[in-house]
Amino acid sequence: MSPTDVSDHYGQHGLTERICAQLTSAGVDLNNLDPSALSGVDEFHLGGRAATTAILDSLELTVDSRVLDVGAGIGGAARAIASMAGCSVTGVDLTPEFVATASQLSDKVGLGQLTSFEVANALDVPFNDTEFSVVTMFHVGMNIADKQALITELARVLRPGGMLVVYDIMRVGPGDITFPVPWSSDRSTSFVNSPDDYLDALRHAGFVPEQPIDRLALVRSAMASMATAPPPVNLSHLMGTNWPTMFANLMAALDDGIVSPTQIVARRPE
Ligand SMILES: C[S@@+](CC[C@H](N)C(=O)[O-])C[C@H]1O[C@@H](n2cnc3c(N)ncnc32)[C@H](O)[C@@H]1O
Repeated sequence: MSPTDVSDHYGQHGLTERICAQLTSAGVDLNNLDPSALSGVDEFHLGGRAATTAILDSLELTVDSRVLDVGAGIGGAARAIASMAGCSVTGVDLTPEFVATASQLSDKVGLGQLTSFEVANALDVPFNDTEFSVVTMFHVGMNIADKQALITELARVLRPGGMLVVYDIMRVGPGDITFPVPWSSDRSTSFVNSPDDYLDALRHAGFVPEQPIDRLALVRSAMASMATAPPPVNLSHLMGTNWPTMFANLMAALDDGIVSPTQIVARRPE
């Protein structure tokens, strides 16, 4: 498995243009774009904006927070954090096309000053030690085999007393995942670990983790709301024609109790 295998799964050329064309055909005014018009496509994690809002409630964000969003995708969570807390958010992601789209969408919704995005591997982020007060990571760990190396790198850039929140799809029961799924075309780039694996890695890196929170109920309720009021642009516009199969396979793994969307908040001691 190489970083390119992962970014090949996600990246598609002409992404911003495709999203904008879809918005225009749904009657959305691109010159007056509200960030909420993007929420069906730019929050690429189960539960979308509802999950982001619930997770951010458990963090201590202020205008002075310095936030790093790891594996930021096309930047929806980073923009949500910046607009809710008024703080600056840096996003990094392995997929160059997603990083370009994240910057372009932030400019379009007027959040270009508070958010910035760059291409980087979560295992080796281009920042100084203790640069951030909060690190967020939503639905990224499933692509990274070495959870200990990942968590140790995130600890490095977090100041003492700072908080890390991980919201990943975690293994909660036995059984095989059928591919493709939203994060992987096949098993070579899929590394789904249990909450206990994350807790072990967090403790080993010096964090004090809270109890994991299973977000499946919130996710099911958010999906029901989205079904009654579909957004103008959605994840099929991000991931292409294979999206229905990816999504169906993920739903089956959730229904069969193999995986569940799980949040873990951890603090780096002072
Ligand atoms: C399912 S998407 C989630 C995107 C975003 N966090 C969100 O919730 O909207 C997973 C993202 O993780 C990124 N990713 C996977 N492995 C990575 C790594 N080693 N370093 C940085 N980003 C990575 C992918 O490029 C992709 O954008």
